[in-house]
Amino acid sequence: MEDRYGHRISYLRVSITDRCNERCTYCMPRELQEWLAREDVLSYEETLRLIRIAAGMGVSKVRITGGEPLTRRDVLGFFQQLPAIPGINDIGISTNGSLLSRCSRRPVGDVGAALQDLSHASHSEAATEEKTMARALREAGVNSVNISLDTLDREAYAATTGRDFLPQVLEGIDAAIAAKFPLIKLNCVLMRGRNEDQLIPLAEFAAARNLILRFIELMPVSHSDVLDESNFLPIAEARRNLESHFGPLIPEPGFRTNGPSTYYKVAGREQRLGFIGAMTNLHFCESCNKLRLTCDGKLRPCLGSYLEFDIMKVMRAGATDAELRRFFLDVVERKPEQHDFRENYQPGRMMVAIGG
Ligand code: 5AD
Ligand code: SF4
Repeated sequence: MEDRYGHRISYLRVSITDRCNERCTYCMPRELQEWLAREDVLSYEETLRLIRIAAGMGVSKVRITGGEPLTRRDVLGFFQQLPAIPGINDIGISTNGSLLSRCSRRPVGDVGAALQDLSHASHSEAATEEKTMARALREAGVNSVNISLDTLDREAYAATTGRDFLPQVLEGIDAAIAAKFPLIKLNCVLMRGRNEDQLIPLAEFAAARNLILRFIELMPVSHSDVLDESNFLPIAEARRNLESHFGPLIPEPGFRTNGPSTYYKVAGREQRLGFIGAMTNLHFCESCNKLRLTCDGKLRPCLGSYLEFDIMKVMRAGATDAELRRFFLDVVERKPEQHDFRENYQPGRMMVAIGG
């Protein structure tokens, strides 16, 4: 699949739930939203069918997102079916990390149960007796894990995510390391006045664990007080702050992970830092290889554009595989050259419902 601008689509980002056990201010507005009804969410079978069709058209990588994907029931059973799809050779997950260290056989059930569970301190005890969720995901064939970590300060973490889950997330990171994923990335969304002081502690934390750390510019994806220009911290400034501490960052144009990040090496170290400049990098969209499938069955050709197309509707109306293939091609045909975040984009859909 290739669009009018030569973007070749090889990467499908799949949201499997709009629910989350956290409430990040940049992702969900403060007023509690209503979750989608179960029948409005693609079943695993429907999702797998669409991934199979996309894989038949050149998609080789899927990343499963949410909300928080690990809050969905029987999520391991879903992951276990992905490697069998011909053409898929790279399986990733984006997670807030809070459920990675819990026992894989304990069903999360619903978010309420997950919350109650988390409020009873750590799950390291269960994890030593039983397999962790992280290990079960690795065994299911997941090779890349992205974990959100905006700060190492417990209070700031709770203020940003609405939940006091930092200890569980740190355990989750340990569980992911123990599970030996080939690629683990930490994602930090840059927010002026909230985590500017965390760049160096986060870089040291990542270096000590040999993890890739990426800094992400805040994107105006919903209406929320934090998504304000006064909170915006450009990656160039983050880079300067890091350089004043670590010395020069050396660009690594050759290093890519299939995503929009540009990578740098810290001088004198093996450490790699990534920068996702969705707002200030004018070349950001040039190498875009992505299509998104939302949990309610919409194909989105671009995160930063209103455009979305209801593939669930045509599928449930009985479309054949050939018709669904046509649908994919039509969506790709409409993929914009660039996102329109810079033109004051007001998407009217929260990040949590798009899937990062
Ligand atoms: N701007 C930038 N990144 C965001 N994420 C969620 N909302 C935003 C936003 N408004 C990030 C999360 C996570 C990934 C899935 O998307 O931090 O790392
Ligand atoms: Fe949940 Fe991730 Fe959104 Fe935070 S950014 S509310 S962890 S989906």
